[in-house]
Amino acid sequence: MARERSSRQRVVERTEEAANGYVADLLLSVVCEAVARHGRCSITLAGGTTPHGLYQRLAYGATSGEVDWSNAEIFFSDERDVSHDHPESNYGNVQRTLIDYLPIAPGRVHPMRGDATDLSAAAAEYEQTIRNSVPAGEDGVPRMDLILLGMGADGHVASLFPDTEALDEHERLVTACYVPRLGRNRLSVTFPLINAAHNVVLLVTGEDKSPTVATLLDENSKHREGLPAARVNPTEGRLIMVFDAAAARLVNPQAISTD
Ligand code: 6PG
Repeated sequence: MARERSSRQRVVERTEEAANGYVADLLLSVVCEAVARHGRCSITLAGGTTPHGLYQRLAYGATSGEVDWSNAEIFFSDERDVSHDHPESNYGNVQRTLIDYLPIAPGRVHPMRGDATDLSAAAAEYEQTIRNSVPAGEDGVPRMDLILLGMGADGHVASLFPDTEALDEHERLVTACYVPRLGRNRLSVTFPLINAAHNVVLLVTGEDKSPTVATLLDENSKHREGLPAARVNPTEGRLIMVFDAAAARLVNPQAISTD
């Protein structure tokens, strides 16, 4: 199989709604293309609040049958140490805003068990689920068709937080991690999985993220390497960073370029 050309794209949309629309169109095109190419599609969805509007838009589209979701496999980037019916659960929130509206068999939606008593075993189990469902590249690492990530104001993605050992996990695809700054345990995908994906979409909106976005897009910043988001670097796949104007307000316009 010909090696994909790794590409980087930075998109700034005027409003959060426009940014959500851009990502929705991109995600739907990836689903259609992957299903056409190999009869299936693997999507990893972000938690947090940023994608809420995006998920609502996809849910609305799904009710109109805009895309055949029946061949999609849905995974999650991370999960908090709560049950799925807890208001903080990433799965619970995505289920209510999107999954419940998708014509997809329950067996194709794979929630993480963030409230497992043995989180390491839950991480290993989730990794095996990914390995059983998602075709691997030549290196044996499963290659998701698309991974959607948000970003915290501290630059974390998934539950890969600054100054944590999870950032340096090079073998496992999913890890159980204690996050000192939260005082909580998390389950999270790791960079080996993220950077093997065919497409990684980083969706960041809101003025509160603008200082971190400016640092992330400033290749010369000495603070950039401390941002976990700076380690999102798909080996062969596409990285598409999508911002609204508020999040990108401090960015030098020259930094909004596309390979
Ligand atoms: C989580 C998310 C996390 C999220 C960022 C941004 O569990 O919190 O998966 O990685 O994407 O924290 O969160 P907001 O979108 O709420 O700002």
